[in-house]
Amino acid sequence: MRQVLGVATLLCAVVLAGCSGGDDAQGAAAGGGAITVGFSQVGAESEWRTANTRSVKEALAAPEFNLKFSDAQQKQENQIKALRSFIAQRVDVIAFSPVVETGWDTVLREAKAANIPVVLTDRAVNVSDDSLYATFIGSDFVEEGRRAAQWLVGDSEGKAGPVRIVELQGTVGSAPANDRMKGFKEVIDGDDRFRIVRSQSGDFTRARGKEVMEAFLKAEGRNIDVLFAHNDDMAIGAIQAIEEAGLKPGSDIRIVSIDGVRGAFEAMKAGKLNATVECNPLLGPQLADLIRDVHAGNEVPKRVTVDEGVFTQEQAEAELPNRGY
Ligand code: AHR
Repeated sequence: MRQVLGVATLLCAVVLAGCSGGDDAQGAAAGGGAITVGFSQVGAESEWRTANTRSVKEALAAPEFNLKFSDAQQKQENQIKALRSFIAQRVDVIAFSPVVETGWDTVLREAKAANIPVVLTDRAVNVSDDSLYATFIGSDFVEEGRRAAQWLVGDSEGKAGPVRIVELQGTVGSAPANDRMKGFKEVIDGDDRFRIVRSQSGDFTRARGKEVMEAFLKAEGRNIDVLFAHNDDMAIGAIQAIEEAGLKPGSDIRIVSIDGVRGAFEAMKAGKLNATVECNPLLGPQLADLIRDVHAGNEVPKRVTVDEGVFTQEQAEAELPNRGY
């Protein structure tokens, strides 16, 4: 009997060791028949990113996966190193959210040569050959930029103009920064009331958002009507700068941003942010499905986009309890 208990204890310890791999090896079946996924995340720059990482880790903690997770700290060189390390380890599938759009051809060719399929998540890449990745899952960032501008057009109804806009852009060269700017401009370009008077990157972080907004306020004084921030975190940082300059965010300067995180809903409830365009970070379950399919050799769509909405101050209080991130 003692012997049987001893073997059972040993087995439990082996299974638990498989479960407790933390960042580097998750999944009860780590290695043993599980799909080994190398996932390279952008960083931890925003509330959105924290929710996205949680969603991915939760979905890929299922016993059928063995997750190797790596944080690039917003640096492309770290991401390229992580991808090369996944290739050297011969993972089954690579998934990653690229910090910037360009500069991926070489490393993706290396993955292809090693027969490792690549799933892009959240951000897209700009490569010469689309067969270098299997599929993409994420948001339509151009549409998000359009929606922010459409909110502005509605909000400016009856106003003669000029409407002086400052823009806090995301990380230079990233797909969301490029696309949101493009979508926003597409809508306001035909209407000469709207003028983007300053535009600078705040790298998607609260701290940089605040710093850049301080610089905008210093340069433009009270001549700013609207802030368009490429994400909520930068808008929240900017709100602080606006308040410290003795102005009222949400009324003296109208603000629209993107993501729809809880912090934005709280700012809207407090009357400091006017609208947020949703960008859903909870991509984990759909990403897991795609990884499963790609690994099995099933046909997958080249691009999978998620449904999203727009929320205004008036909806903030009712919607706040429903926010999952
Ligand atoms: O790629 C998605 C963007 O990256 C989110 O809008 C932003 O908050 C994040 O850092």
